[in-house]
Amino acid sequence: MFISFEGTEGVGKSTLIQRIHAYFEQLGREVVLTREPGGTPLAERIRDLLLAVNHDERMCADTELLLMYAARSQHLNQVILPALAQGKIVLSDRFCDASFAYQVMGRGLDGDKLALLNQNFVSCMPNVTFWLDAPIELGMSRARARGELDRFEQEKLEFFNRVRQGYQVLHEKEPQRVFRLDATQAADGVFEQAVNILNKI
Ligand code: TMP
Repeated sequence: MFISFEGTEGVGKSTLIQRIHAYFEQLGREVVLTREPGGTPLAERIRDLLLAVNHDERMCADTELLLMYAARSQHLNQVILPALAQGKIVLSDRFCDASFAYQVMGRGLDGDKLALLNQNFVSCMPNVTFWLDAPIELGMSRARARGELDRFEQEKLEFFNRVRQGYQVLHEKEPQRVFRLDATQAADGVFEQAVNILNKI
């Protein structure tokens, strides 16, 4: 089983992932915890490039998309597919849906560019995607409290509202895969919502 976790900044993905991890381990399942962009040493180096703030040169939106997919290809082939082949449960902090939300909806890139990359480089989609949804202001104040903001976290409110809208589009398009969790609730409440969905599945 492949599960991804999505949402805008500061919505509590990491806390939920840790709890779902513990939940599956209690059931005696082997779990691989991973993230995007990143998840392998090479992909983590690409992540550093993507998140670094560079005042001398603005990263083009196309470059951003292609770097996301370079990292994703490495991650998918080196980590996700081998783990799934061994019967492990893969929990990934973000996957392809983030590229629709951030690069297509957030940056305004043509959806055909994304479709081309998905068709050619992504052979496997998550069985379940949890979208942790909360108002942008709430998440941003949590993100700010964590310290220095990365290149994405420095974006404006309108950018994140478009990203949030992107997740809503995905949820409406694929309600059987992309589940919305109310992330304004406390961690216990968010975990409960996720476990209820997993139990139903
Ligand atoms: P994180 O904050 O969840 O660690 O993710 C790093 C940033 O990368 C986050 O701001 C969202 C962004 N991102 C994209 O823009 N597109 C993608 O495809 C992925 C996986 C992440």
